[in-house]
Amino acid sequence: MNGSQILYVWEWPVRIFHWVNALCITVLFATGLYIGSPVLRPAGEAYETFVMGWVRYVHFVTAYVFLANWIFRVYWFFAGNEHAKNVFRFWSRDAWRSVGHHARELLAARPEIDQELPGHDQLARMMHGLLFTAAVFMVVTGFSLYGEVNPQGVLGRLAGWTIPLAGGPRTVQYWHHLIAWFFPLWVVLHVYQVVRIDVGARRGLISSMISGYYFCQGGGAQGRPGAGSGSPRAGAAGPSSGR
Ligand code: HEM
Ligand code: HEM
Repeated sequence: MNGSQILYVWEWPVRIFHWVNALCITVLFATGLYIGSPVLRPAGEAYETFVMGWVRYVHFVTAYVFLANWIFRVYWFFAGNEHAKNVFRFWSRDAWRSVGHHARELLAARPEIDQELPGHDQLARMMHGLLFTAAVFMVVTGFSLYGEVNPQGVLGRLAGWTIPLAGGPRTVQYWHHLIAWFFPLWVVLHVYQVVRIDVGARRGLISSMISGYYFCQGGGAQGRPGAGSGSPRAGAAGPSSGR
């Protein structure tokens, strides 16, 4: 691309987190739906095939990976570069104005997108904040159900408080099931958002979550809505920087 810079934006821990998280959510959702309504009914004795046992096993192993991945991402929030510090400032009026600006832009029929700077814009940050909140909810409710067999065990003590709070394990299970549907909805909106921005801003957004690099033309655009910090990003000025 003529006259454009290549910026290193997403460090490898963010990219690994991203794709591990995407994989975990897909597996958790698919196995969770099966646990909730076991559509496969193989012939013969249950102990011969043990389908539900395996599906639950995969759900729980993936749940541990999912939790570890998020803990790692929280650590990288502090250890990583400025683009890893992905916070939606919901208390700021400017942040909400920027969310409105980007939402209108994504819904408009015109193809251009005003995404001038690398990094998460405020709408993306808001979406990520919602995903984080839903992930915490699923981990707490999931581990409280998992710890039900041994309420005095570590999991029972750490997460079991949701059961008396909700009025019984079946209510927790109900909410765990209900909030599971938030994830596919979120993914559809997220993929729409990144594809629209990729097509409209032509900065290689999608491939940036694989390579870490992003195209940026000229000096950026200070003060435009959605520019996370309101200024062109420092510390990302060259293919070798930021690692
Ligand atoms: C289950 C599916 C997915 C989930 C749960 C997910 C989740 C996320 C999260 C949490 C972030 C923030 C990353 C961070 O700062 O740590 C993010 C960013 C991003 N994701 Fe995904 N993602 C999914 C699928 C995809 C797919 C299929 C693509 C490509 C088409 C994609 C492209 C991107 C890009 C380009 C960004 C950075 C731009 C932005 O701020 O939104 N994601 N995603
Ligand atoms: C994206 C995250 C997750 C999704 C989408 C998800 C989805 C689901 C769904 C749909 C069910 C079926 C509920 C029903 O019986 O009607 C389920 C069950 C369950 N999930 Fe999750 N889950 C997630 C994360 C977790 C986590 C982190 C844990 C922690 C261990 C967990 C543990 C459980 C347990 C114990 C059950 C009940 C299994 C049973 O009744 O035999 N889940 N999950």
